[in-house]
Amino acid sequence: MVSEVPDSDRELPSQQRSRAASHAGLAPDTVAAALDRLGGHISEFDQRLLIECPFDHYVRRLDPYPAIASYSHISPAVKEIGRIISERVGERGLERYHQGVMLTLILRSMARLQATNLPEDIKSLFADNFSRIARNIVRDADSPGFYLYPNFSKELAICTLRLIPAGVQKVELNGLPRRYFLTIRSRTLLGSLSFLAFHLGGIKPLYEMHTDSRDPKAMVLFHPAGWAQFYARVARLLEMNPGVKGLFGSSWFFDPALERISPELAYLRTMVTENGGRLIYLRPCSQTSREDALMYSAKRRKAFGEGQYVPTEYLVAWPRRALIDWAGRASSMGPGPAVPRHEHSPVMSGQDGARPKERPASHPSGKEVTRG
Ligand SMILES: CC(C)(COP(=O)(O)OP(=O)(O)OC[C@H]1O[C@@H](n2cnc3c(N)ncnc32)[C@H](O)[C@@H]1OP(=O)(O)O)[C@@H](O)C(=O)NCCC(=O)NCCS
Repeated sequence: MVSEVPDSDRELPSQQRSRAASHAGLAPDTVAAALDRLGGHISEFDQRLLIECPFDHYVRRLDPYPAIASYSHISPAVKEIGRIISERVGERGLERYHQGVMLTLILRSMARLQATNLPEDIKSLFADNFSRIARNIVRDADSPGFYLYPNFSKELAICTLRLIPAGVQKVELNGLPRRYFLTIRSRTLLGSLSFLAFHLGGIKPLYEMHTDSRDPKAMVLFHPAGWAQFYARVARLLEMNPGVKGLFGSSWFFDPALERISPELAYLRTMVTENGGRLIYLRPCSQTSREDALMYSAKRRKAFGEGQYVPTEYLVAWPRRALIDWAGRASSMGPGPAVPRHEHSPVMSGQDGARPKERPASHPSGKEVTRG
């Protein structure tokens, strides 16, 4: 769940928003030309590396990844090839190599995507993400260290079509991690287990949702209508994939304590819990996740400082039938996805759904993170 970006790669949400508007489609020729240039850079590190270990070799080791796995999964074969490359060209060379792998994958996935039966809007979100990722590589926009594991894992998983952009969140095929069962509170254990067994129908395969703070077009959709649109897309994916039992995600922002401190975020939990999904306590947040929770909110920072709020991670799980039924009800309410009851009004007034406000300029780090 956690993938941290070096400080200089983080940016203010206002910058995210302006970048969100600026991604035009990227032509395959442009990607291919960038790949050639990258090959030239890598040859400066080691003339024979790409002859003995072309990008395709690495790509072929990504292909047998299990169908149900986290985006952060790395196989021993990929670790090994990374070790060998790093020994030959150092970490900076390995990063260039990983960039080449990403561009190779983007070229392949741009073509493959058209042959999939994914809905057109998801294909177009993939195209946006490919553009964003390729552009960052072409412009060398990321700080040293980003193209090393685990930092670039989410973007790699997008390029392999494993992590599916669906709007405000991205989803992958995964299962509930077993470690979650160790943390469920004993007084809710029976109820939670029976929900997972009888309502969800098992702990895998499920779609797992993730926030991707590096994707500005996704982050501007962080409002009730954006989430409704996302859940409607997941419902569609579930309909197309009858074997997938539902959706889950975990975050500080599902915490019921926010009802008291940040009531405008309560919709994140109630959209699920009032429509057949369940909330399950996991644990107090890790340090990085606590930083996420406190980053943009003076109120949460104050409450935390006064001992009134401890950022806590909760799981939400939404069984497929209940989610599909919700989407049916929502679409019958009008042309767009329904706005949930607990709407946070300011974000609803933007014509394109983008929030009209600027974030507070003085949050603790002034930086963006990519976690979730
Ligand atoms: C998750 C996240 C996108 C939610 O953002 P959000 O919808 O703006 O909600 P937040 O409560 O965080 O908003 C921060 C501040 O902006 C204010 N705000 C929110 N919407 C506003 C609006 N429309 N107009 C004016 N101010 C607004 C809030 O009041 C809050 O300040 P306060 O709590 O001191 O009052 C944001 O907190 C974030 O990017 N966090 C870091 C990354 C992260 O947590 N990722 C998820 C990991 S699982």
